[in-house]
Amino acid sequence: MPRKDEKSLIAGLDIGTSKVVAVVGEVGADGAIEVVGLGSNPSRGLKKGVVVNIDSTVQSIQRAVDEAEQMAGCRIHSLYTGIAGSHIRSLNSHGVTAIKNHEVVAADVDRAIEAARVVAIPADQKVLHILPREFIIDTQEGIHEPVGMSGVRLEAKVHIVTGAVSAAQNLIKCIHRCGLEVDDVILEQLASSRAVLSDDEKELGVCLVDIGGGTTDIAVFTNGSISHTAVIPIAGDQVTNDIAIALRTPTQSAEEIKVKYACCLTQMASADENIEVTSVGDRAPRRFSRLSLAEVVEPRYEELFTLIKAELQRSGYENLIAAGVVLTGGSAQMEGATELAEQVFEMPTRRGAPLSVAGLAEVIRNPIYSTSVGLLLFGNENRQAKLNASLAVGNKSLLARMKSWFKGNF
Ligand SMILES: Nc1ncnc2c1ncn2[C@@H]1O[C@H](COP(=O)(O)OP(=O)(O)OP(=O)(O)O)[C@@H](O)[C@H]1O
Ligand SMILES: [Mg+2]
Repeated sequence: MPRKDEKSLIAGLDIGTSKVVAVVGEVGADGAIEVVGLGSNPSRGLKKGVVVNIDSTVQSIQRAVDEAEQMAGCRIHSLYTGIAGSHIRSLNSHGVTAIKNHEVVAADVDRAIEAARVVAIPADQKVLHILPREFIIDTQEGIHEPVGMSGVRLEAKVHIVTGAVSAAQNLIKCIHRCGLEVDDVILEQLASSRAVLSDDEKELGVCLVDIGGGTTDIAVFTNGSISHTAVIPIAGDQVTNDIAIALRTPTQSAEEIKVKYACCLTQMASADENIEVTSVGDRAPRRFSRLSLAEVVEPRYEELFTLIKAELQRSGYENLIAAGVVLTGGSAQMEGATELAEQVFEMPTRRGAPLSVAGLAEVIRNPIYSTSVGLLLFGNENRQAKLNASLAVGNKSLLARMKSWFKGNF
């Protein structure tokens, strides 16, 4: 097995409701990342994005990591992982500070962000991310790089993401049980958006919708920055469940039928095309038309898109996303999903897959891997920042945060 220089390797672990994916990326001399290892294993210990069975999750992680290590020819010691689930909350906040020497330095930025952090957060929630959206110096708005600018008053507008303490602890516990360290925990839709959205889309305003197995994760970007995040506990598993109930077939066969034949737009399904459906018990298989299958699937996708639309309206950003909606995640592969989404949202919609990485291109360019690839890209940026050491502010708070997680003293 060829041995890779482990210093240039980054690993990501997407612990999803349907599958656990481990990816290994190698950072080249130019700083770009190439995927060199990928391992995927069905996930058994999660419900709606949250760990409910530690032993099963540990097994899935171990298998996925072993596979990725074997393919990459290396050992993984630590990795970046994603977090999701309906326990995730988010809010926008702002903080103000005086610019001490009339020229912004990193410490001023740190103070402004810290001031924005002072908001009431429930005791069982912990801050996962404080994402700067923009800075305002005196009256000048829309500043993204404040360091070095002159002024007297610095205001930071931030997006704060919090998650349940117990959910994060269980996730970290599973990874530790596999003998691995956690570099950082990243909100899943943030990772996915890093992998599939272009800078132009973020600038123009866009809504990323990651439809997985257990949850649908949303991230809204306006003016180049994150503005809103939300999690809806409806996704592919519900669709499979609907099919199982409507066609009276075991869940496993409902899943196969869904992936092979389902379509979420009845206009696109033919009434003449028949599929054979396994019955429960000893009963003989029956035949259904693709149209009747689509009639089961369409209402669930329509409900999901309607809920997302309502969330967008509630967030107040509905009219600010000129680039429309980008669907990703396994369930975005459903035939007719973009067409139905366009009808419901009345906005341009496209399907997004990770594009900006090299290596294993044919495999990795699938909406299923958006979160995993995004984790690698985040990890790479984090590493570059550490190397530059100029981001002492961000790293310090990140390290302090991670230390407290490991100790469990939230
Ligand atoms: N071709 C397909 N058409 C429709 N649905 C599909 C297809 N392929 C996979 N899916 C569905 O995608 C879902 C899995 O997606 P994904 O791998 O993104 O989920 P996950 O990341 O494990 O879960 P989550 O993010 O919700 O925790 C499953 O419900 C599966 O049935
Ligand atoms: Mg997912």
